[in-house]
Amino acid sequence: MDKALLAKTAAAMVAKGRGILAADESAGTCEKRFQSVGVACTEENRRNYRGLLFSTPGVEKFVSGVILFDETIRQKADDGTPFADYLARKGVIPGIKVDKGTVEIPLAPGEKVTEGLDGLSKRLDEYFKLGARFAKWRAVITIGESIPTHTCLYANAHALARYAAACQAASIVPIIEPEVLLDGSHTVERCEEVTEATLRATYAALAAYNVVPECVILKASMVVSGKDCPRQAGVQEVAERTVRVLKRTVPAAQPGVVFLSGGQSDLDATAHLNAMSAMPGLPWPLTFSYSRALQNPALKTWKGSAANKNAAQQAFYHRAHMNGLAAQGKWKPELEKQAA
Ligand code: 13P
Repeated sequence: MDKALLAKTAAAMVAKGRGILAADESAGTCEKRFQSVGVACTEENRRNYRGLLFSTPGVEKFVSGVILFDETIRQKADDGTPFADYLARKGVIPGIKVDKGTVEIPLAPGEKVTEGLDGLSKRLDEYFKLGARFAKWRAVITIGESIPTHTCLYANAHALARYAAACQAASIVPIIEPEVLLDGSHTVERCEEVTEATLRATYAALAAYNVVPECVILKASMVVSGKDCPRQAGVQEVAERTVRVLKRTVPAAQPGVVFLSGGQSDLDATAHLNAMSAMPGLPWPLTFSYSRALQNPALKTWKGSAANKNAAQQAFYHRAHMNGLAAQGKWKPELEKQAA
């Protein structure tokens, strides 16, 4: 474990005004996204699309790191450079998704646990050689009638902690992502309660597995109303509830917190981040680690055609720019119109 490297990587991931692009969609998720814009989900199309995002001129001003999928870290940019090296040369840290997705927890109906611990240390050593300096593991917590159960929180927290310890041993910074899903009709109060319980269980497990708090990044879901809840909490309420939960649970020693967008609209994800980052006295920098909220406009503009590449890159640049400002509490809705 190279603690100096871990600390350096973690600090760079959450550097001022920069955040992380999640481009680690599995082939299945990519299929859904590509289908929505009528593009065949072939390996070459996935390479083309990711290459388009990574080669966006100037985007490195706002993007500190990119989470890659196993296939992508083995692919090359148009000039023949492996993507990980290509990003590193731009000053963007390559990261890697290492979980293997979710399965139902036996005897816990409707609840899931994330797999991928078998052989993980060996895979991490290989990813380090391929250039990855941070990793991601996503756990999924569903809110429902009588869920999440303690079983679900416990199972996911322990998997996250074992993963995080393995990453640190391999000198790779772990992003721990316990995502509380926004699907459902639950209230924002219920989301706050579940998010707090989830983070408490997660940090207890991290301590039990000797994970070094200074070398972990939390990828948090925001405290929002369930998608189908009749009362949707406003921007300020989401910001206040989210920061309250984080302050209660996340050690101040942690280098930073990044957020997932989780199905929020692009503008909501930016506005929420902005409202939180503008709060005084935060113990850690906050920034983005969005997939959909950064990529949606670019994907819709690209539609699989090389002729749309420049316009798609501009759309991606714009969202990265807006979120880079939001990470500093400097975003304003008017800025959206100027660049549109
Ligand atoms: P979204 O921003 O689309 O939620 O994706 C973030 C992510 O990496 C989920 O694991």
